[in-house]
Amino acid sequence: MGPQTNDAYLALVDEVTEHDRRYYVDAAPLISDGEYDALMRQLREAEGAHPTWTVAWSPTKRVGHEPVSDFPKVTRPVAMLSLDNTYSEEELRAFFDRVVKGLDGDVPTFSVEPKIDGFGIELVYKAGVLTLGATRGDGRIGEDVTANVKMVRGVAMKLRQPVDLTVRGEIYMRKDDFARMNEERGRLGEELFKNPRNTAAGSIKQQDPREVAKRPMHAILYEVVGPTTPGHLASLAYIKALGLPISAHNTHAQTWEELVAAVHSWQDRRDALPYEVDGLVVKVDDFALRGALGTTAKFPRWAIAYKFPARQVTTTLLGLELNVGRTGTVTPVAILEPVEVSGTTVSRASLHNWDQVARLALGTGDRVLLQKAGEIIPEILSVTETSSGDRFTTPTVCPSCGAALAREEGRVALLCPNRIGCPAQRLGAIEFFASRHQMNIDGLGEKVVLQLVEAGKVGDVADLFTLTTADLAGLERFAELSAANLVAAIATAKAAATFSRLLSALGISNVGSVLAKPIAAKYGTLSALRAACAAKTPEDFVEELCAIDGIGETIAESVDRFLRDEHVVGVLDKLAARGVDPAEPVVVTADGPLTGKTLVVTGTLTAPRADVQKRIEQAGGKVSGSVSKKTTYLVAGADTGKAKLEAAAKHGVTVIDEAELDALLTAAP
Ligand code: IVH
Repeated sequence: MGPQTNDAYLALVDEVTEHDRRYYVDAAPLISDGEYDALMRQLREAEGAHPTWTVAWSPTKRVGHEPVSDFPKVTRPVAMLSLDNTYSEEELRAFFDRVVKGLDGDVPTFSVEPKIDGFGIELVYKAGVLTLGATRGDGRIGEDVTANVKMVRGVAMKLRQPVDLTVRGEIYMRKDDFARMNEERGRLGEELFKNPRNTAAGSIKQQDPREVAKRPMHAILYEVVGPTTPGHLASLAYIKALGLPISAHNTHAQTWEELVAAVHSWQDRRDALPYEVDGLVVKVDDFALRGALGTTAKFPRWAIAYKFPARQVTTTLLGLELNVGRTGTVTPVAILEPVEVSGTTVSRASLHNWDQVARLALGTGDRVLLQKAGEIIPEILSVTETSSGDRFTTPTVCPSCGAALAREEGRVALLCPNRIGCPAQRLGAIEFFASRHQMNIDGLGEKVVLQLVEAGKVGDVADLFTLTTADLAGLERFAELSAANLVAAIATAKAAATFSRLLSALGISNVGSVLAKPIAAKYGTLSALRAACAAKTPEDFVEELCAIDGIGETIAESVDRFLRDEHVVGVLDKLAARGVDPAEPVVVTADGPLTGKTLVVTGTLTAPRADVQKRIEQAGGKVSGSVSKKTTYLVAGADTGKAKLEAAAKHGVTVIDEAELDALLTAAP
């Protein structure tokens, strides 16, 4: 049972906020994910039933928001300075000596903190509530990215105490989250992000906070503006107590020897952290002494960055491998003489594209400089010694099927256009279709797919559905039992499939499991989607798809192209003939975009009233016949009666048209 009074609701907001803190700041949750979800559900329900209770700092507010077209500028009273860099112990010693000299020979206490390789941010709290999140900009003038910052886990929207506070810190993405996200992008045929830092920076400057919400970001705060305590580390302890995340690795040093020891202690720890650290920041701890030292035009005199040496090595380039992806992208992979870079052996490095190969003028036998700095995937920076061998040229034909390669418009990637005819793509497509996050066909992994394709048993994904144990008998690794198991697993997957799952499993470029959902919800089945496509011109169909929330022109065109491809049509016809045309289940979600909302539908709409009603209910909304103070929206079609409009005005009910209803229905909850 959710909160029944406003006070109980506010207490629940605080309770969930506290659990967020335990989870994201302290990494010590007190309750299970399931229990947490239950509390969130209660919050949403209470806010649905009592919209006036809802407070801006409610944890439910981490999602939502319309895109912000241009970030407003904010001028800050205290500029966000950047730091001067040092790269050696000598340079660090020079900083130390300057500080001591500036303090008339006194050695102050220094703080030593990891320098997080992310995106600098300022947070302003008023009476304990987050009122502003701003980028550094030029230091003095930043951009107001509050809506996006609220999507960052760990950034408290309300502090434990109602204090006014300005803090600064870094927004970052963890290395493992980054790798997972890039893997997913690779699977979807999307361009890969370069490194966690760029991704975090790009994400915070995204125009659409709903997009930001999908990017797993964290924050670590490292400066309190307007001292609350005489010392810096104490001020960080203070904001930690208020519920803000700070680094667990901050230490202090009282002498030069301690400072050097602190720096050395980081040599091996650097790689163990879940996020990228590109150095250390050494600061004078005492705020009064900082004031005495002052700043130059650009940097404070009381702090310095000590940058870790970049991790670069040279090795020999043994060759170039062409990798044909599932969607036909042909990418170069450098094969290297195995070499050790910061704890891992590297024998392959992906080159971003063929332009890079040409720019570096790479050839077999070259010595190349390899870097594993911010990047998780090692990168070839330059050629240090050119061999006498031939230079690599951009391939013109697909290494798998021999088709002429094309360059996709506006992209540097090379593409094999032979979508279904190309063995490498076909193999990749079948593997992808069967994989766990797609159709989830148990026992149908890479090796088995290869075996089935090579034996001529399977040529495309539709062929899976006519496989019999007799087909498999006699194949290596297919004793009686496992043949029966595979056939059963395919039947199970077919029975369990939903349209959205099938759609994403088909591997249309740019359409992953997330975007497959709204498309599936709109059309219901693959046959309905295909019929809609067949009944329209490409332009009209693309326009229809673009009306779905989250679907832009590139995606719509990619869907249209896929459905009209003659090879694809053949495979889809076969799938239909084999009864693979699952429906999209109608889920009445507890947290749909209209959960807790009551709508009255009136006047003439373009779709039958019953259909509109069903869609509202699927989105979690309630449909009622008469306008009252409980009504959230009056959906007014053509020739809406005056009485309904007057009732809406009387009760302060928002009147929307069909297009606005459509937007609500497809919005994220
Ligand atoms: S203190 C005036 N502390 O590094 C002091 N900065 O190169 C300003 N950074 O702009 C910053 N970790 O974005 C500080 N523990 C840390 C840091 C840190 C990362 C970033 C920050 C700053 C940049 C300077």
